[in-house]
Amino acid sequence: MRYLPIKQVKENSILAIPVYNDSGSILLNANTILKQAYLKKLELLGYVGLYIYDDISNGIVVKELLSEQTRRDTVAALKSLNLDLCRLMAHSIVDELLDKSDVSYDMVNIAAFDNYTYIHCINVSVLSVIVGIGMGLNYSQLKHLSEAALFHDIGKVSISLDILNKKGKLTEEEMNIMRCHSEEGYNMLKENCMISGLVKNAVLSHHENEDGSGYPRQLSDKNIHIYAKIIHVCDVYDALVSNRVYRRAMNPADALEYLMSNCYIMFDIDCVKKILEYVSPYPTGISVELSNGQEAIVVQQNTKHYLRPKVMITATKEEIDLMEVFNLTILKILT
Ligand SMILES: [Fe+2]
Repeated sequence: MRYLPIKQVKENSILAIPVYNDSGSILLNANTILKQAYLKKLELLGYVGLYIYDDISNGIVVKELLSEQTRRDTVAALKSLNLDLCRLMAHSIVDELLDKSDVSYDMVNIAAFDNYTYIHCINVSVLSVIVGIGMGLNYSQLKHLSEAALFHDIGKVSISLDILNKKGKLTEEEMNIMRCHSEEGYNMLKENCMISGLVKNAVLSHHENEDGSGYPRQLSDKNIHIYAKIIHVCDVYDALVSNRVYRRAMNPADALEYLMSNCYIMFDIDCVKKILEYVSPYPTGISVELSNGQEAIVVQQNTKHYLRPKVMITATKEEIDLMEVFNLTILKILT
């Protein structure tokens, strides 16, 4: 299978990874033959790309980290604002990830803007737990981190969609309303005695910056809890690689570059280093341009060195392991 921007997907291609709707249910199942009408509709809904099967990508495997069941049940729990159920789902996410031998984050975000909010919370939870595992957090800490990540934007439920999905720049007043969501989220959780104070604090602090320029309390450096630091960087990463009404999705390599450039300003450097250890800038199945001008598809990661995966030249089907051919580099992702 491979990833293609939706405009490049040809009619009658076969879908390889399901497309989910707003409720987390499957909109189009794997193996669906993509009719022109489906492709048009998906594009209108804001999907920028799809994973498809075709001859050239035969044998390339892309793994989803979360089961469809967990994804769907978590969306349902978030939609119903059932906090106890959300906590259980946050713990299921930890269990599913701990069961995996390899938790590398190796996929292009294919969510559309219509189902952004819930899918975003799940993605931030998955990514935060991966970073937490990498940092050596214990089981109890990972469960708290996963809960906080799932709840991080819960305060946005009271913000109007006109502001949340505004295409243009927000006014000062709208920006202030947006910035209230971390305190709003904290207030929604604070009376629930089953939720740890650390989780509530992380929700309150997930927009604090390392240099003290964040909100709501302008905390900096050591005054920000590690859960909030992890969620902050994972939140921004997933937001950047998501397609929004007001902005096209950034590719993973550029989004990781953005995180690196904001170490010590917005982000904790250890959190960013962990993301770089687990998130591939050139996900498997994506098309890239090599430094010799040839187009290639990423066929397999070198988990010790994500910048140099194994690739296949599209025109000749020749496979090249970039760990062995050092005079060749990936120039850019083709989208
Ligand atoms: Fe937020």
